Amino acid sequence: MGSTAIHGITEITCALPAVRLWGIDLDVIHSAHGVNRLVSEEEQARARKFLIIKVAERFLAGRGAVRLILSHHLGVDPGELRFQSNAHGRPSLLGFPQSLDFNFSRSRSRAVLGVVHEGRIGVDLEHDFDDPSFLQAARIILSEEERKEFAVLPDAERHSCLLHTWTTKEAILKALGTGLSVEPSHLNTQGPISAVRILIEAVQVSTMELQYLVPWPGTRMTVALERRPFSPGGR
Ligand SMILES: CC(C)(COP(=O)(O)OP(=O)(O)OC[C@H]1O[C@@H](n2cnc3c(N)ncnc32)[C@H](O)[C@@H]1OP(=O)(O)O)[C@@H](O)C(=O)NCCC(=O)NCCS
Repeated sequence: MGSTAIHGITEITCALPAVRLWGIDLDVIHSAHGVNRLVSEEEQARARKFLIIKVAERFLAGRGAVRLILSHHLGVDPGELRFQSNAHGRPSLLGFPQSLDFNFSRSRSRAVLGVVHEGRIGVDLEHDFDDPSFLQAARIILSEEERKEFAVLPDAERHSCLLHTWTTKEAILKALGTGLSVEPSHLNTQGPISAVRILIEAVQVSTMELQYLVPWPGTRMTVALERRPFSPGGR
């Protein structure tokens, strides 16, 4: 797919091999693509429950963009795609033999979709924001060990460090498929960024590669990629 083949969608360069990353302008998608014809009845019904029209439009635009991009990757019509979700809401494609995996994240008018043909991917996109009360979330986000390192950081670095850790943990938990059903403070990351060991409650559950990106000014994101399913003692 060329970088401008779909109005409102551009490819973002990702250094992780075999990962395709797409940046989505949700408001452009909504106005340019007639998203209602792309999404399912169920998705339209879910959108009708949002109280704010802009939020509903962006939800539908996100679902529509996911279908446009995946249908291109698979060479099928967007309407042919069916999805299933795991117990924690992680979507995957239903009925396609290919081992294609994807993950989606939205923040305000922007969204990202990561696609990989082998492995499991998680992405999290956040807008930078300036709210001093966010620092209180350190006890929810950081593990005990991480809190010790956080405590000695200069004040000026704390907010950015916490937001960075938040996007990283969310991307990891989305690749694992648990989402926030696992408390981020129970998650510890160790090792070089090329192969981070993921420990939940001191038990290794995965090894992942991470990449940090600034897809648009004032935003940040993390891509987490698990290349092979983790088997304890198997690597
Ligand atoms: C996954 C989760 C972290 C997303 O949080 P968020 O910051 O609000 O949202 P993001 O924009 O980053 O990501 C949303 C997308 O992630 C995907 N997603 C949803 N649940 C997911 C999961 N468990 N793992 C990976 N991806 C998930 C979906 O594509 C979703 O898009 P949608 O809103 O169009 O459905 C959060 O919803 C969560 O923790 N869910 C799990 C909680 C749970 O167990 N729920 C059970 C009932 S389903």
